Amino acid sequence: MKILVINCSPQQLASSTYSVAQAMIDQLTDLHELNIDMLDATGLPHIDSDYANSLCAADSAHDLNKGSLAISDRLIRSLERADLVIIASPMHNYSVPSCLKSWLDHVVRAGKTFNITATGKQALLADKPVYVLVSSGGVFSGEAAYQPDFFTPYIKAILATIGLNSVLFFTIEGTANRTDLVQQKIADVQRRVCEHLATALA
Ligand SMILES: Cc1cc2nc3c(=O)[nH]c(=O)nc-3n(C[C@H](O)[C@H](O)[C@H](O)COP(=O)(O)O)c2cc1C
Repeated sequence: MKILVINCSPQQLASSTYSVAQAMIDQLTDLHELNIDMLDATGLPHIDSDYANSLCAADSAHDLNKGSLAISDRLIRSLERADLVIIASPMHNYSVPSCLKSWLDHVVRAGKTFNITATGKQALLADKPVYVLVSSGGVFSGEAAYQPDFFTPYIKAILATIGLNSVLFFTIEGTANRTDLVQQKIADVQRRVCEHLATALA
């Protein structure tokens, strides 16, 4: 089984969502032979001018082997190859961190992962499970929410654009709280994700 893990936290392996991703990997390792593609999204550059111009020109007009176009091809290939995707990300300013936005700009690409038609955008990727692990200092869902959430609706809409509709969110909210409470929340999310995986892959 091929797994793509996209780590979007500046805390990297010490991040709360990565610890949940690691619990998922540990569980999957017991069931499958894994091929893990670990992407540190925080190192991704923004798209460049060749990439931006290529959206309105034939491939032959650009050197596809350099800059953002080459990075985009590589990121799209690894997304296409994956059987399961894990996005581990903090909420930043009510939305996705800029590195996750950069990954999306590279993989949500006209003519490659979706087509623009007279009736709208047509997705080109085969659907697959996407586990989105989100961590936030405060609370953005449920009755206790006190801030807007542009993260989850945006991710649902943008992944659906390229054909990824089987998107599941697991959130660790309120990490600005006491450390022992946060550890409890992380353990709880680890347990719930692993229970879900066990059922989904049975
Ligand atoms: C630049 C920045 C912006 C943030 N914006 C928000 C926010 O809008 N809402 C929120 O609840 N927490 C916000 N936080 C807090 C992080 O989401 C929180 O610390 C999270 O638990 C970090 O997750 P990680 O351990 O997976 O990196 C922000 C943190 C940073 C560094």
